[in-house]
Amino acid sequence: MKLGCCYFPEHWPEEMWVEDARRMRAIGLSLVRIGEFAWSRIEPEPGHFDWEWLDRAIDALHAEGLQVILCTPTATPPKWLVDRMPDMIAIDQHGRPRGFGSRRHYCFSHQGFRTESRRITTALAERYGHHPAITAWQTDNEYGCHDTVLSFSRAAAGGFRRWLAQRYESIDTLNTAWGNVFWSMEYRLFDEIDPPNLTVTEANPAHWLDYRRFASSEVASFNREQVEILRARSPGRDITHNFMGFFAEFDHHDVGRDLDIATWDSYPLGFLEQFWFSDDEKHAYLRQGHPDIAAFHHDLYRGCSNGRWGVMEQQPGPVNWARFNPAPLPGMVALWTLEAFAHGAEFTSYFRWRQAPFAQEQMHAGLLRPDGSEAEATDEVRLAARVIEQLGPQDAVQAPVALVFSYEAAWICGIQPQGESFRYLELAYEWYSALRRQGLDVDIVEFGASLDGYGAIFIPSVPIAHEAQVESLKSASRPILIGPRSGSKTDGFCIPEGLAPGPLRDLIPVTVTRVESLRDGEIEAGDGWSISRWREDVTSDLDPEFALSDGRGVVYRQGNVRYCAAWPDRKLLDLMVMRIADEAGMDITPLPDGLRLRRTASHIFAFNYRSEPADTAPLGLGEPLVGDSTIAPAGFAVWARA
Ligand code: GAL
Repeated sequence: MKLGCCYFPEHWPEEMWVEDARRMRAIGLSLVRIGEFAWSRIEPEPGHFDWEWLDRAIDALHAEGLQVILCTPTATPPKWLVDRMPDMIAIDQHGRPRGFGSRRHYCFSHQGFRTESRRITTALAERYGHHPAITAWQTDNEYGCHDTVLSFSRAAAGGFRRWLAQRYESIDTLNTAWGNVFWSMEYRLFDEIDPPNLTVTEANPAHWLDYRRFASSEVASFNREQVEILRARSPGRDITHNFMGFFAEFDHHDVGRDLDIATWDSYPLGFLEQFWFSDDEKHAYLRQGHPDIAAFHHDLYRGCSNGRWGVMEQQPGPVNWARFNPAPLPGMVALWTLEAFAHGAEFTSYFRWRQAPFAQEQMHAGLLRPDGSEAEATDEVRLAARVIEQLGPQDAVQAPVALVFSYEAAWICGIQPQGESFRYLELAYEWYSALRRQGLDVDIVEFGASLDGYGAIFIPSVPIAHEAQVESLKSASRPILIGPRSGSKTDGFCIPEGLAPGPLRDLIPVTVTRVESLRDGEIEAGDGWSISRWREDVTSDLDPEFALSDGRGVVYRQGNVRYCAAWPDRKLLDLMVMRIADEAGMDITPLPDGLRLRRTASHIFAFNYRSEPADTAPLGLGEPLVGDSTIAPAGFAVWARA
């Protein structure tokens, strides 16, 4: 695994570039990402390119032996472009323009901006496509950041109508599929259909789902246009995009198919603060992040691009964008780096090299402070570089468990939550976390991907169970756990014939006759465990495997297949994981809070996310090769595998 950083030569006087490059090498970095926001410097006037500074910046980095990941700058269209083409601005759900003055203000569907995106990408690729320093390209920056996947512009409306006409061919087919007879929503022409925002009350969920599918395909096709240009003009270089954390607004599997390597931006402390974690967890893991945040995304994005992935931006200190922005515990930056290594990352690149003294992110730490002195993380990068060198390249092994993840599932649960706290991403994360608490490695895979070789398959929820996907499950003989709401909708967002779980009844004979959602804090108790948020009434000839104290069934099992008809608490999840692991003949290692394991072909890694030491002696691994068997807070240890 290489180490690198995100660098903005345009932020610093040219005299600093050579010395910056020298210092990057000296601390163990070999990669540097540049250019993602530099459009106004590359093309200061329409059609007038200023390449010389970028030539010199790339040469300065190259002279030190650094490999460069060059980005297309389309996340920040310059002011002159917006003024020439004001309708390229995205429109938010309330009909308001997303004005110039920060970033990501463009609409994915605007054909004029698409032309501009291809033009600037072509210009960059022609200039640097064969440059020996360029090892990879990054398209744009964080598609969807700041809530920018959906736009409700005229361009988007036009694109949506064309997309619908292609999908449904006749307007009657669409009216039937969406159930538009309800509330007299029938259309006569595709041209009559608007985006689903600004309706008096909720729009038809089928309308929303298709809008989300359309918007997701717009992101994918925007990306594909850049990829095709870069491939043709810069042969032999990898193409990537940097995805975000806990973000499911477009189908990353779809975008990932066009990339050589998926990357993501890892900000565990910001994510802990901004997402659903309880106050207790936010307190316990304030300076570490919850122990599964980084790993969940490593495993998710490994499944988005044929197993090749990396960390494009790694938090090196406090960030600036969460409600509260604590500093990591000493050791965490090295821990996060080694954890990415253990999960098979090809590189980890820190955001950013030097903290900016100006503009929006001046409160965001870098490896250096604004005055050029080394910030706290820099020594940890040196340490991580030494350990990576010592351990040598790691070969990946297939994990024993597959967790099936679906972006469409996230959209459906968001469009029609039915209970406010039914959050698909959280459900998937909780199931993942349960597997990791038992020391299991996990591959997160797309629904429909091959499930060969896995000892067990966990499907937190898949509201639309497409037929081909159900087929892939039928052939699996290993334990399968299917979660609530699965098979509860048709492709057109309607209740399936014969009720939920629709086509999944071919795997297990259960019928969901009613669902209820519960207020936060309400629980229904079983034997030492409970369920909350969501519960389904099930009729079946099967006796429940787990039932509530009053006898109502929660988990049903037939052969290798189980259906869980509720939002399980951690205890019930643990029980199910242990039972399934036993049936599958998989070894588990129940772990104390905050300790996590990860195996490669040659090594076992342990990571201590606790703020107290963790004793690994009970795990029976013996003396570690790296670190101590009692792992310090925010520390790690590594063993050679027998
Ligand atoms: C990322 C983004 C970077 C920077 C960083 C700050 O979301 O890609 O450009 O803004 O966050 O944490």
